Amino acid sequence: MTLRPVCLDAGPFRLRPWRGDDAAVVLAAYRDPEIRIRSLSSVDDLSAATAWIDERIDGWRSGAAAAFAVIDPTSGAVLGNVRLRIDHPPVEGEVGYWTLPAARGRRVASTALDAVSGWAFGVLGLARLRLIHAVTNPASCRVADRGGFRFDRELPPGGRWPTPGHLHLRGAGDQTQPPALAVTRMRMSSTGEGVRPVVVPGCRSDI
Ligand SMILES: CC(C)(COP(=O)(O)OP(=O)(O)OC[C@H]1O[C@@H](n2cnc3c(N)ncnc32)[C@H](O)[C@@H]1OP(=O)(O)O)[C@@H](O)C(=O)NCCC(=O)NCCS
Repeated sequence: MTLRPVCLDAGPFRLRPWRGDDAAVVLAAYRDPEIRIRSLSSVDDLSAATAWIDERIDGWRSGAAAAFAVIDPTSGAVLGNVRLRIDHPPVEGEVGYWTLPAARGRRVASTALDAVSGWAFGVLGLARLRLIHAVTNPASCRVADRGGFRFDRELPPGGRWPTPGHLHLRGAGDQTQPPALAVTRMRMSSTGEGVRPVVVPGCRSDI
């Protein structure tokens, strides 16, 4: 499966693919100890930040993963990151995310997660998404709940994860309406737009 880079409307936020000129913000993000601890990547200088972005651009080209910068649609400022890794065959996927320290507590992560999930189910046709976070990361557990990912089970350490984790799942047919989606719906209906996260025309999605 190849992936056409897109921008997504996520209510108060917008998602666009990471670009080469984002290296400084990626480097700043990885100066945050929380992001460093929770991430599988390490970014210590501008060339590592550029390599991090190149890996995300390659994900779109190979169809292995769709990685988005979450931005403020008015200022264009980057607020966070959300990435969907796609299994082969492309039936399921796994999501990961971080929010820059200054933007935390505004539902950036949960709203972005909900938008990516809607796109993964509605456009890519995936059937189920996984979300794994460390047991010691209660903020991420809240993000999962708000993003519509129900707790499934605790996972022992292993594979990519050195500590015990929580597995959360969200299926394409899940009937539950996550709170983040409710927020998006309210904001979108007030402008007369559709109720699902939609692809944004005119947004720079070139990579
Ligand atoms: C986890 C993280 C992504 C949350 O980002 P965010 O944009 O602030 O998330 P949201 O605003 O959507 O939701 C955060 C929720 O966690 C809650 N929270 C924040 N810190 C918390 C803590 N220490 N304990 C419990 N809950 C906490 C908030 O109150 C909020 O819950 P609410 O919506 O019920 O009020 C962000 O803190 C981060 O980037 N952390 C470092 C990287 C990381 O952990 N990534 C996830 C790896 S699985």
